[in-house]
Amino acid sequence: MRSYQNYINGEWVDSLSKDKIQVEDPSTTNIIGEISCAKNADVDLAVEAAKNSFKSRILVDMPILERAKLMRRIAEETRKISKEGGNILCYENGKSMAAAVKEFNDVADMFEYYAGLTDKLEGKTIPVSNSVLDYTVLEPYGVSAHIIPWNYPLAMLGRSAACSFATGNSTVIKTAELTPLSATFFAKAVENAGVPPGLINIICGYGNEAGAYLASHPDVNHIVFTGSVVTGKKILHMAADKAIPAIVELGGKSAGIVYPDANLDDVVESARHAIFGVAGQICTAMSRLVVHKTVKDELITKLVDLSKSLKVGPGYEEGSELTPVISNNQLEKVEGYARSGVQAGAEAVHGGKRVDRPGYFMEATVLNNVKQNMTVAREEIFGPVLSVLEYQDIDEAIDIANDTNYGLGGGVFTKDLNKAAWTASKLEAGQVYVNKWFTGSHATPFGGYKQSGYSREKGIQALNSYLQIKNVGISLV
Ligand code: NAI
Ligand code: MG
Repeated sequence: MRSYQNYINGEWVDSLSKDKIQVEDPSTTNIIGEISCAKNADVDLAVEAAKNSFKSRILVDMPILERAKLMRRIAEETRKISKEGGNILCYENGKSMAAAVKEFNDVADMFEYYAGLTDKLEGKTIPVSNSVLDYTVLEPYGVSAHIIPWNYPLAMLGRSAACSFATGNSTVIKTAELTPLSATFFAKAVENAGVPPGLINIICGYGNEAGAYLASHPDVNHIVFTGSVVTGKKILHMAADKAIPAIVELGGKSAGIVYPDANLDDVVESARHAIFGVAGQICTAMSRLVVHKTVKDELITKLVDLSKSLKVGPGYEEGSELTPVISNNQLEKVEGYARSGVQAGAEAVHGGKRVDRPGYFMEATVLNNVKQNMTVAREEIFGPVLSVLEYQDIDEAIDIANDTNYGLGGGVFTKDLNKAAWTASKLEAGQVYVNKWFTGSHATPFGGYKQSGYSREKGIQALNSYLQIKNVGISLV
């Protein structure tokens, strides 16, 4: 079994306590590796390294095209390591090998994209009077702390680290304790690219220890968090205590509205990826479908056929489509939700319980006749459980879709693009997908309405959240 280390100030180090976190393969429950477990003292070292690198101005004063070149080298080294790193990501997270390798390439895409924007972060000159030259400069915050979830351990890290680097911040990344190994391959890519020490530090520790200590550290100037609403709110309190900005990307309970004229095979294809892919552990999962009553029976039949057809297996087995959830805790939680739906009167037309095999596999579950007041329609399940609700007129469908504290994603299935645009305008969500879930890319802004969080990741807009504006006025007389 291989032992992994933290990457602090350009060095590979064990935690001072020598404690380790063991990492499991959720497909078998076998231990596949271990990593040094960072505690407060290790967080101090990582933050100090970041702070010193920021103070040295090595990144801030680097000619801007050199910064871009360095980012492209990180991208190149990340691509080189994508197969090896993707393999570990597949084993520690459970998702398919192809999806795991793609995540590394997504990180590379992010670094290339933001590399191209480094020299386009322009300030303004502002007319004040003829005797004043007034201009703005965009400056980094300093030490930016990134707390990463386990469902997309690399993609979530890549989008924030690339933005942070492009804008000149020094970064400390705390990976999730359930999936910390793959990020060490990204750290290797950072090292191979020749990034000066301290600009990107990557550590793993438990959330309530290293995570909480990092977020509340006095020398951290900026926080990026992706994860649950409960933890996100704690992070916001920590940020508020220090009056520093926090970007939070939290959960979702996204609904797709199915019009009577929808191509139902499009809905099924979206279900394949957006609720059964990655075992439904996706913040923008298509976890509810609000379906017109005239097409519901036909759609249910198609969803059951899909659920039956999905090949259950580990991500590293060719052709696996329904891979495990991350942990026994998660499996119990997901199974409990499915049970609660049935107890409340929904019908499990497929699935509803764990798969009888080793590992943490949950059946592809389709709950029919769900009502919006049921827990399964209100809370984020984060598993392969799809709730199907019925509507008669479109205003009712929109009310159902919006009747949630979340506002991350939403969808519309219809051949009529006028209806699609009208519906999109009514949905309280940060992204709306029409006829296909997940149409976005590295360039499209991503984030939540309501309790799904605020600020945006990805795209040009994201840069604003990593920069502060300095206004300079020069008296010319
Ligand atoms: P979590 O939100 O507790 O964990 C996410 C990250 O936050 C991890 O790196 C963790 O170590 C860290 N963390 C945990 N407690 C912390 C604290 N007090 N201070 C600072 N950092 C802390 O998520 P968890 O417990 O792993 O999963 C619980 C539920 O959260 C899931 O069932 C799912 O509903 C949701 N979730 C949503 C995600 C999303 O993409 N929106 C991602 C992961 C989880
Ligand atoms: Mg937790």
